[in-house]
Amino acid sequence: MKLNIAVLPGDGIGPEIMEQAIKVLDAIANKFGHDFKYSKAICGAEAIEMVGNPFPQNTYKICMKADAVLFAAVGDPRYDNDPEAKIRPEQGLLEMRRKLGLYANIRPVVTFECLHDRSPLKENILRDTNFVVIRELIGGMYFGKKYQDNYKAYDTDVYTRPEIERILKTAFELAQKRKHHLTVVDKANIMASSRLWRQIAKEMENNYPCVKTDYMFIDNASMRVITEPRFFDVIVTENTFGDILTDETSCITGSMGLQPSASLGLHTPLFEPVHGSWPQATGKNIANPIAQILSAAMLIEHFGLTDEGALLRNAVEGSLKEKVRTPDIQVYGGANYGTTQVGDWIANYIVDN
Ligand code: IPM
Ligand code: MN
Repeated sequence: MKLNIAVLPGDGIGPEIMEQAIKVLDAIANKFGHDFKYSKAICGAEAIEMVGNPFPQNTYKICMKADAVLFAAVGDPRYDNDPEAKIRPEQGLLEMRRKLGLYANIRPVVTFECLHDRSPLKENILRDTNFVVIRELIGGMYFGKKYQDNYKAYDTDVYTRPEIERILKTAFELAQKRKHHLTVVDKANIMASSRLWRQIAKEMENNYPCVKTDYMFIDNASMRVITEPRFFDVIVTENTFGDILTDETSCITGSMGLQPSASLGLHTPLFEPVHGSWPQATGKNIANPIAQILSAAMLIEHFGLTDEGALLRNAVEGSLKEKVRTPDIQVYGGANYGTTQVGDWIANYIVDN
């Protein structure tokens, strides 16, 4: 298969972890006779410095022409600590999501048995957790009308029927392919936007009789995902709730550095880790590349390369079992492996198996 992949390494640890993902994709391409071409493009703080725009027009063009986008992370402390900054790296990410129409962000939460001891949860709670959070990605407060002066400020949590229907359709369809259980997470006891979500979900429920649909308030859901994670199969929720909930769920496994995601919608699909750019670790060869590598797995699986995806996932699991791990998940007294060593080990496993 020929795939033209737009590669956006971004800021902080982005370039280091991206290098590992490309290494692994090349190993897959060689082994299975595929032709993966990479078109590199700038974004985030790097792009602000070079051209004054965190998602430049040229990067947009490269993304639109590609079959898929592989994205790492953006963000730089120089902007976080400057409340006056008019242009921020994160705006590039939001622009990218909006311009590519990526309304459905798919964030799987799967545990690895050999990492149970790394989780903040007890093993009996955590065991066999396997669910997916679908976060609406281009609506709600992130994009609604905003206002700010010295006395008053607001954000608007606005959603329209078509926006809600398309994301719920994605969720119902995924639940149909999985364990037929959908949990709609909202704050319908307080928020009008949530009440519309719930009304539309109740209408659509009838079209998916084999899916058991339930409704949960976000405050309750944020408690249940860590007290009873096995309850969930597919969760669907609005942009802001999904942002917060998935930082929480990303820790269930034991490290944020393990969680990939896919963003799907109107144009080119995008694959990215859930974590950020971890600027403090830049250049130290300590960042965990697995979230980025598993994002590459989601990318190839999106194009139907299931055997390839399975081998890649086996390779990742092999590295964890063999304790070839970066410091965030290494066992006490375990050997030191850096970002590149983990990437090499996983790529070599693919060559050898
Ligand atoms: C995420 C991130 C982004 C978000 C930031 C970096 C803008 O936290 O992808 O979850 O809030 O969506
Ligand atoms: Mn987030």
